[in-house]
Amino acid sequence: MKMYFDKFHITPEPTSIPKIRKIINKYIRKIANRHLDGKWLAIDPFARESFTLAHPNFITNDLNPVYETNYNLEFNEFADRLAEDFQSLVFQLVIFDPPYNLTLLKKHYDGIGKDLRRWQTHNMWGIGKDIIARQMDLGSYVISLGYHTHGFGLQRGFQKEAIYVFETYGREDQYNLFVTVEKKVQTTLDLQFAEIEEE
Ligand SMILES: C[S@@+](CC[C@H](N)C(=O)[O-])C[C@H]1O[C@@H](n2cnc3c(N)ncnc32)[C@H](O)[C@@H]1O
Repeated sequence: MKMYFDKFHITPEPTSIPKIRKIINKYIRKIANRHLDGKWLAIDPFARESFTLAHPNFITNDLNPVYETNYNLEFNEFADRLAEDFQSLVFQLVIFDPPYNLTLLKKHYDGIGKDLRRWQTHNMWGIGKDIIARQMDLGSYVISLGYHTHGFGLQRGFQKEAIYVFETYGREDQYNLFVTVEKKVQTTLDLQFAEIEEE
């Protein structure tokens, strides 16, 4: 696993920041090169107004109905709908860029006049990651943005490939942003094996 360090100015649309877009583009290229017929699918569950809305291979979602994404569902409901609307093992890439903590999540919900449910205060993303992980192809990628590097994790079959640490220019009061890239290395759940791999 490789680690990189850089600095940037954070914005509400991180995937538009050129340094982050470059990372995402690198993995889009890898996938496109493996699927020369153009038949690959990526998902962006928290898309806002990202470039992914105009990308033909991306299925997009955002809870906030002002954003013109393919779906406007809460993340877990989106994961369930994908499982219903698409066959299993069909996705090659996920961009996982949610609100980064509970305070920010609550702010989004307040902004659209919705209440958080009790389970969200314990586990913000519920079992949505489990549902999506099962539908990911072997060799597929998850690119997670946030204040931690958990990503989807080995327990869901994903091994870390790279972590990019972004420090915000001149703002000691702001958290670093981590961009964690993981690759799916196994399709069965095997925690014992996962622990050995992690050492
Ligand atoms: C960090 S922003 C995403 C920014 C986007 N990836 C970009 O770079 O332009 C997080 C988005 O998640 C949406 N959101 C918040 N809670 C959600 C939930 N429970 N399910 C789905 N979307 C949610 C918000 O409306 C917001 O647009």
